[in-house]
Amino acid sequence: MPPELPFVDLFAGAGGLSLGLSAAGLAPIAAAEMHGDALATYVAAHEKYEPGSALQVFEGDLARHPLRSLRGEVAVVAGGPPCQPYSTGGLRRGIGDARDGLPLFVRAVREARPEAFLLENVPGLASGAQRPRLDAVVGELTALGYRVDWRLLRAADFGVCQRRQRLLVVGTRRGRFAWPEPTHGPGRPLPYVRAGELLDPERPVGEPNPALVTYAKTPDLRPSPWDGHLWNGGGRPIDPDGLVPTLLASMGGNKTPWLDGGRVVPTYHAHLLAGGAPRSGRVDGARRITAEEAALVQGFPPDMPWVGPRSSRYRQVGNAVPVRLAEAVGLALRAQLTGTATRVA
Ligand SMILES: C[S@@+](CC[C@H](N)C(=O)[O-])C[C@H]1O[C@@H](n2cnc3c(N)ncnc32)[C@H](O)[C@@H]1O
Repeated sequence: MPPELPFVDLFAGAGGLSLGLSAAGLAPIAAAEMHGDALATYVAAHEKYEPGSALQVFEGDLARHPLRSLRGEVAVVAGGPPCQPYSTGGLRRGIGDARDGLPLFVRAVREARPEAFLLENVPGLASGAQRPRLDAVVGELTALGYRVDWRLLRAADFGVCQRRQRLLVVGTRRGRFAWPEPTHGPGRPLPYVRAGELLDPERPVGEPNPALVTYAKTPDLRPSPWDGHLWNGGGRPIDPDGLVPTLLASMGGNKTPWLDGGRVVPTYHAHLLAGGAPRSGRVDGARRITAEEAALVQGFPPDMPWVGPRSSRYRQVGNAVPVRLAEAVGLALRAQLTGTATRVA
């Protein structure tokens, strides 16, 4: 018997979006991905967490794959196209341009004609010079017969310990999509998940990251010790009582956030505020989080079968939609499409 709400994940990556939608009760039946390691991770995770269920794989550039065969097979087309830096000088619109996933997403919706679609992207697409691009895509999807709505959601509001914000665009053929209510944060049923609950400087999980944390020659002070640039590289220290900075696909080297095992951050910040001289050399007790720890922050299961070398695993993790954010939107979508929502713990 076919699954109730089958979906295809375009630009599947390692599958953060898919895992969240699965947790919400949707069923992944097809995935498209061009990066070998990410696809291998996705397939291994599918075999592990969806044993016995078939998966149609569109390998390589999605532009090469017609998706008409999915018509009638998928209820939902989901996907997080690559966050292409759109030029302000002109809009790239070429369908089949592998660098720009948005036309490929629109084409997939046109060909597969799902009941609904879910598009994920960076918040930047909804502002400034990129905003006309979003409006154009919304217009194209509306013309295909969908009621389209978009929102910026904070992952932390849905139980993800991260500052990450994402743009979600939802289209439905019938009815108006009701966005999920935030569950975490001040005034909500649950508090934000603190970094210290997930990450322990003394107990590393996974393959250590060799990129050292060193003091910046010219520190840039901010009111909070956890902001500003007191250290070299783009990776920020992680406040154990706060949220993890947004994890980037370019993590791995000195853009990787780090844990303050030597409890240096607040005291050094106070030292500088008091007019003390900048230090140099290595920060005592600091260590950058591993790809496996970054994956836990993104909400991947601890036994996730990652494939690829360390740099590739960091990229797969940084590229992902946090699983619980995807689950929250998935539950709302499921409620919309079936008239019921099942809370999956
Ligand atoms: C932002 S990531 C998606 C992450 C995924 N949604 C998740 O939650 O794990 C975008 C992915 O699209 C893939 N990609 C980019 N262009 C593609 C194309 N033309 N065809 C297939 N995959 C593509 C990249 O390799 C990358 O893994």
